[in-house]
Amino acid sequence: MPFYSDEIIEQVRAANDIVDVIGQYVHLKKKGSSYFGLCPFHNEKSPSFSVSRQKQMYYCFGCGAGGNVIRFLMDYENLTFPEALQELAQRAGIELPQQEMTAEARRAADRKTQLLEINKVAAKYFYSLLHSERGQRAMAYFQGRQLSPETMQKFGLGYSDQYSDDLYKYLRKMGYSDDILKDSGLVTIDEARGGRDKFWNRAMFPILDANSKVIAFGGRVMGDGEPKYLNSPETPIFNKSRNLFGLYLAKKTKRKQFILCEGYMDVIALHQAGFDNAVASLGTALTPGHAALIKRYTDAVYLSYDSDGAGVKAALRAIPILKEAGITCKIINMRPYKDPDEFMKGLGPEEYEKRIEGAENSFLFSIRIMEADYDMSDPAGKTAFQTAIAKRILEFPEELERNNYIEAVALQYQFPVESLRQMVVHLAAKEGSGITAARPANRPKPTNFAKQQLNREDGPTKSQMLLLTWIAEDGGIYRDIKSYIGPEDFNEGILQKVATALFAQIEAGEEINPAKISSQFPEEEEQRQVAKMFNTPVAEDASARDLGKALRETVIRIKEESLERQRKAADPGEQLQLIRKHAEIIATLKKHDFYHRS
Ligand code: UTP
Ligand code: MN
Repeated sequence: MPFYSDEIIEQVRAANDIVDVIGQYVHLKKKGSSYFGLCPFHNEKSPSFSVSRQKQMYYCFGCGAGGNVIRFLMDYENLTFPEALQELAQRAGIELPQQEMTAEARRAADRKTQLLEINKVAAKYFYSLLHSERGQRAMAYFQGRQLSPETMQKFGLGYSDQYSDDLYKYLRKMGYSDDILKDSGLVTIDEARGGRDKFWNRAMFPILDANSKVIAFGGRVMGDGEPKYLNSPETPIFNKSRNLFGLYLAKKTKRKQFILCEGYMDVIALHQAGFDNAVASLGTALTPGHAALIKRYTDAVYLSYDSDGAGVKAALRAIPILKEAGITCKIINMRPYKDPDEFMKGLGPEEYEKRIEGAENSFLFSIRIMEADYDMSDPAGKTAFQTAIAKRILEFPEELERNNYIEAVALQYQFPVESLRQMVVHLAAKEGSGITAARPANRPKPTNFAKQQLNREDGPTKSQMLLLTWIAEDGGIYRDIKSYIGPEDFNEGILQKVATALFAQIEAGEEINPAKISSQFPEEEEQRQVAKMFNTPVAEDASARDLGKALRETVIRIKEESLERQRKAADPGEQLQLIRKHAEIIATLKKHDFYHRS
């Protein structure tokens, strides 16, 4: 893998206008100083994807995707950084320096990129084994599970050879050192015995991230045996609770919802049957991280967990996590079959489609499961059940919603509506929650986790981001604030780094260049953050109409918070003096006439 200098990267980036490049993929319309279109990274009906010619960056106000033109190409076309750079260089007619892959360059290259490369190489290797003589048994296994050649190819299924160091030897032959291989999750390196494969003699399922990069594997025994599935351990590129199997396919679905299931084979069987919206959280329980990931693409999920006891339990745990993320969910009944894979073989896609239509509301589902804990033939048991239901209904913040559920439950269990309603009101009074006629007063609304993820910044962070956006859009502001605010007033970490780089550009008399700054942060997550810092909507934060006033308030907020941090870190003996000094600074700030230009 070649290694390119910062200079050449910037030269290529600057030679490719971001509006022109993205315009080739996304239909963009000019609106104000930016261009808007439908976000290619999540499903949406009204455009929240913005591209700025001035900043040379894109940012989606819906899903938070963002970065410069190189990042866009990486995500849109699933390219590695060097691949994207090569494509852009070619587009602009720039000749990239030819570099051989030296040992040093390899070391210098991003370790994560190497791990991705290794996983990709391994996936290709497993794939070719499956289609070779040696993979006949695995091929027969997949065929026995009724997978078509197209499905096997779509999911990149493979086979790991029966020798326990086959892949290790192959990867070494391909030039990868023990030092990087030991972090790949694919082999363990033992001083005495050398390298050994994690997976051998298994049917292999590559796990791809949302950008279609292979980040891990699952391997199944062909037949009976323990453990049934082996999975890659967590590595620098594989975080179990932040990835979903099948997401790279499901994100392109035309359907409005996702189907969430438990296993590899469930996802594969569903896709083969035409349900291209199926994903699974493999082997681990659903986490808020999974839910936030789903929320990037949809806010409605059908749960298709196993119909056995464990599956029901898993569903009961998943429902509140999804709800917290702002995702509604319904439960698909797969009986008499255990999982979607078996259901497809038994009853087929059409019947499954009907089950989707008839999916059960998650609240009614959990009430129905709860019912089994009560003896309904005993009046006391029945009362206890009703009380439990009333308690659950209290969790809904809206009166209308509570009433709807009271009616739905009463109908389903043939309870008198009014007595259930009375029970809710009575319970609320007892709990002192302020609910009178089933109306919540001081109850906090359940927080929307996904929204929090997008707007998770606290007040000071937000002010800092707002100021960066302002300066990036109008460098003149910097002159106005520089006597008060410096990079050290920003939160340590990425915010401070970005502020430092931005201020340095202005001080050096360069043109303000957010896209260049973002090149310093090649990781996807960091690029998103930088894009967000340069796209913090002013109106959202500014209560004051007048921009000058809003700017002053923002500067004061940042300064106050920064001074407070300084004071807390100072010696007790200095406190009084510092308090006085800081009060003076703020007082001067309050008198400063900011932004008096037109
Ligand atoms: P299941 O046991 O329900 O597997 O586990 P399945 O998908 O129906 O498997 P098949 O149809 O027998 O092939 C559900 C998921 O839990 C994880 C796997 O991700 C699996 O797909 N799992 C299960 C493991 O990680 N390890 C195991 O030993 C078993
Ligand atoms: Mn199964």
